[in-house]
Amino acid sequence: MLSQRSLNRRTALQALKAHYRQIRHSTISELFSEDARRAEHMSLTMGELYLDYSKNRLTRETVDLLVVLAKECGLPEKTLAMFAGKKINFSEHRAVLHTALRMPVGGSVYLDQKNLMPEIQQGLTQMRILSDQIRGGHMAGYTGRRIRNIINIGIGGSDLGPVMAFEALRFYSDRALCFRFISNIDSSDFIESTRDLNPEECLFIVCSKSFTTTETLSNAYLAKNWLLEKLIHPEAIAQHFIGVSGNEHGVADFGIDISKMFVIWDWVGGRYSIDSAVGLSTMIAIGAERFSELLSGLHEMDAHFLHAPMAQNMPLLLGLVAIWNNNFLKATSTAVLPYSYYLKRFPAYLQQLSMESNGKHVDVNGKTLKISTSPVYWGEPGTNGQHSFYQFLHQGTALVATDFIGFCKPLHEHITQHNILMANCFAQSEALAYGCSAQQLREAHVPEDVVLHQVCDGNRPGNTILAKSLTPRSLGQLIALYEHSVFTQGVIWNINSFDQWGVESGKKMAKNMTQELQESPDRPDPESLHDGSTRKLMKYYVAHRDG
Ligand code: F6P
Repeated sequence: MLSQRSLNRRTALQALKAHYRQIRHSTISELFSEDARRAEHMSLTMGELYLDYSKNRLTRETVDLLVVLAKECGLPEKTLAMFAGKKINFSEHRAVLHTALRMPVGGSVYLDQKNLMPEIQQGLTQMRILSDQIRGGHMAGYTGRRIRNIINIGIGGSDLGPVMAFEALRFYSDRALCFRFISNIDSSDFIESTRDLNPEECLFIVCSKSFTTTETLSNAYLAKNWLLEKLIHPEAIAQHFIGVSGNEHGVADFGIDISKMFVIWDWVGGRYSIDSAVGLSTMIAIGAERFSELLSGLHEMDAHFLHAPMAQNMPLLLGLVAIWNNNFLKATSTAVLPYSYYLKRFPAYLQQLSMESNGKHVDVNGKTLKISTSPVYWGEPGTNGQHSFYQFLHQGTALVATDFIGFCKPLHEHITQHNILMANCFAQSEALAYGCSAQQLREAHVPEDVVLHQVCDGNRPGNTILAKSLTPRSLGQLIALYEHSVFTQGVIWNINSFDQWGVESGKKMAKNMTQELQESPDRPDPESLHDGSTRKLMKYYVAHRDG
């Protein structure tokens, strides 16, 4: 395994450092003037997607060197290892095989000499049967009323994927059904999500790979009590709860009929699980056919990532550009800017995908890394974000990389409005790249006293991803594009992108503290191990909670 020192010694990395020193003062605008075919060379299509990375502060040589770096870091071999089911998540002794979940029928994926495809197909069939039943109006609750409200209870990957996919594909959803997503331990989430619903018509999908997650279990118990307040008989639970989990005992202990459990295998990471039974709510919303189009889209990007030459490989290039922006230009945050109402939860989804995967401080050998790993992902859909934080993007002192995402064909007939939306998308990315100089402002007769305030330096790096239209297939391709980009970055940093021990440690501390706050109103004990600030916060809280 590579250490930080051997990473530093890599020839391509040294060459990239020298190259950076050569081009660091070149502006995006100069780079366009120097290369008439820049946009042509720095763009590519894959399936429904078109990626333009030409508005980044790099040259063709930069890309060539980054590709060499990827080779030196063993990206081709590590990609093969992931797809082949090697236990690359070594700290949890797990294979990483979300790509198997979207393999077309007839394919085979082996793990420990066992072909996983039969059980994957069986799981999909089980999902399809339930989904068809609900969509067809054939599923009734305990009192015989039709199930109309589908409520997913989960958190992290058991929520962000489902809610993002539901919102993204809402256009295709069955409007006779109502979908809600409950994640927060703050019971207000549960209360507000259920207050207008009739328990007799509700199906709760309790989604938790571990089935030990505090937030999910707490909300699931609230749901149980809420349901029983009206339906009284405990046997009603069986008709209103479904479990999606890898923990059969946990599901059974909660009181869900095991025959109604949908399996999440241990080789599927939470943040990579939208294509597993975690996507059950998505399938119910859009139907099994469209769900299989989503899987096809994911698979098409997988196949491209696996087979396309490195210099024409979309996820790989997106990942390498992210490395360049982060580690060389020091843009340690990336704004995700979908120009689509439907992609409103996409930035939050990407946050977990990237930051939980690559927010790591040591390499695979446990050596402390001296380079910045996952950028901070954040964002809002355009044009809303333009009236909020774009000022910071254009004139703030921090350099932020951007990913603009747009669709050529809208899902409605208002072409004029769609043109305005997309004009804003293109204009913003152009403005960030080119800026607006004092000379241009003076030529436009801007009063001298405000010229300097209006100058935008530009030279802010960004990608634009265009899809033909927002369909289950293009969404699948977009998700897998980012999954493999995140993987590529993790390989360059030589980290394990598939564990999340930091989250686990935070969970443990919260559990202990919960006990302290629950046990006695006099708590916390001033002599306890907490620091002065935390002790005071807890005392203040207890005093005002009980006062
Ligand atoms: O937040 C940490 C985490 O472990 C995520 O990785 C995961 O997606 C989430 O919690 C939920 O876990 P589970 O599906 O086991 O409830």
